[in-house]
Amino acid sequence: MDPILHEWGGFLIRWTHVVTAIAWIGASFYFMHLDASLRSITEIPDGRGGEAWEVHGGGFYQVRKYLIAPDRMPDHLIWHKWQSYATWLSGFALLCWLYYAQAELYLIDPAVRQITPLVGAIVGIGALAVGWLIYDGLNRSPLANRPLLLSGIVFLVVLAFAFGFQQVFSGRAAMLHTGAVIATWMTANVFFVIMPNQRKAIAELVAGRVPDPAWGKQAKNRSAHNNYLTLPVVFFMLSGHYPLVWSTPYTWTIIGLVVVAGGVVRHFFNVRHAGKGDPWWAWAVAAACIMLAVTITVVSAPGARDRLGLASAGAATPGATASSHLAALRVPAADEDVVTIVASRCSMCHAPEPLWPGLASPPKGVLLDTPENIARFADAIRVQAVLTHAMPPNNITDMQPEERATLGRYLQGR
Ligand code: HEC
Repeated sequence: MDPILHEWGGFLIRWTHVVTAIAWIGASFYFMHLDASLRSITEIPDGRGGEAWEVHGGGFYQVRKYLIAPDRMPDHLIWHKWQSYATWLSGFALLCWLYYAQAELYLIDPAVRQITPLVGAIVGIGALAVGWLIYDGLNRSPLANRPLLLSGIVFLVVLAFAFGFQQVFSGRAAMLHTGAVIATWMTANVFFVIMPNQRKAIAELVAGRVPDPAWGKQAKNRSAHNNYLTLPVVFFMLSGHYPLVWSTPYTWTIIGLVVVAGGVVRHFFNVRHAGKGDPWWAWAVAAACIMLAVTITVVSAPGARDRLGLASAGAATPGATASSHLAALRVPAADEDVVTIVASRCSMCHAPEPLWPGLASPPKGVLLDTPENIARFADAIRVQAVLTHAMPPNNITDMQPEERATLGRYLQGR
């Protein structure tokens, strides 16, 4: 794909995705908070809803929740669903745009597994569907009556997906896909459970009958799951910018730790908003999980392993695997001039163990240390160093205009 189209398209889809996600998460946090803040009043008996007063933007809001039919079904009833659907749709578009359309850059790491972009896309999209079937099946089983046990099993399912993805995808794609599996549960919860149950309940109320309380309970459970899963998902979605978290063979353990950390932090706020105290232990657990995750990256990231003398003799040689991968993709290796330029201007940062002070890992996972890797990232180099001068950052390594021109000629000729 043309790099300019790719760059703009990716940015516009990402923009949409971030905006819709803000709207969805904002509404979801607001309603969790509102639910926790409701107090019973005389018109609404205990356990049937409640009322909250809020102040915002210069006005007072009196919000009431009815679990039973209000006296009259309002004509203007506001539904909240498109924030969720739009977030999933734009997220899925972004997944396809980056990870499936540009599979060589983002999805396929030949040192992990040599797959074709098509196989990668089938595995990724298939996993989203299978993940939902498993999660939904567990929720519809008798386990639903044992919420803690159910959460434990769902947690193991997340770990299994993370581990599985790590066997086929690059670390970056493994973490992102785990996030996408969970995010799919969240939107599917809205689409397949919460909304249909709400529609059924309203139909009953309009007909003057009492809706089955199980529908409301089921919807509320799924909504609570969504709430606890939000923070981990946001972490996984942002992780592409921080290669250290997915550059280790134990990325799946970091995923598990982040699920726990994000979940307990939400728990803290849910309990606090309900006026049931401040479970400060949640922060201690979250901090311990993050410390452990940091430790795992420090001792197991490839660069760190060398520094600590932990590198194993049997470690994969990326150069060798990359060239067979490139042969399969028919990407020509970079010529000598190009290699010299990139080696002198870029590879001090874009190497497995960057020499540049302050860099713990190759920025954004971009490796420019071998002719094969330079060829592999050719389009990205063109965007960053020829079409724009974003790289080297602030031209910190004093790249000359003639050198950019040489890169441009090589990249043009491909
Ligand atoms: C001083 C260190 C340094 C040098 C030298 C350097 N880069 Fe980078 N590069 C970075 C950092 C840091 C980032 C991550 C930027 C970010 O997160 O937005 C990056 C990101 C990139 C990316 C990924 C951009 C993206 O948005 O995905 C590419 C491609 C890249 N650099 C290419 C190059 C090329 C080509 C050169 C040499 C011409 C080069 N870099 C030189 C530090 C460097």
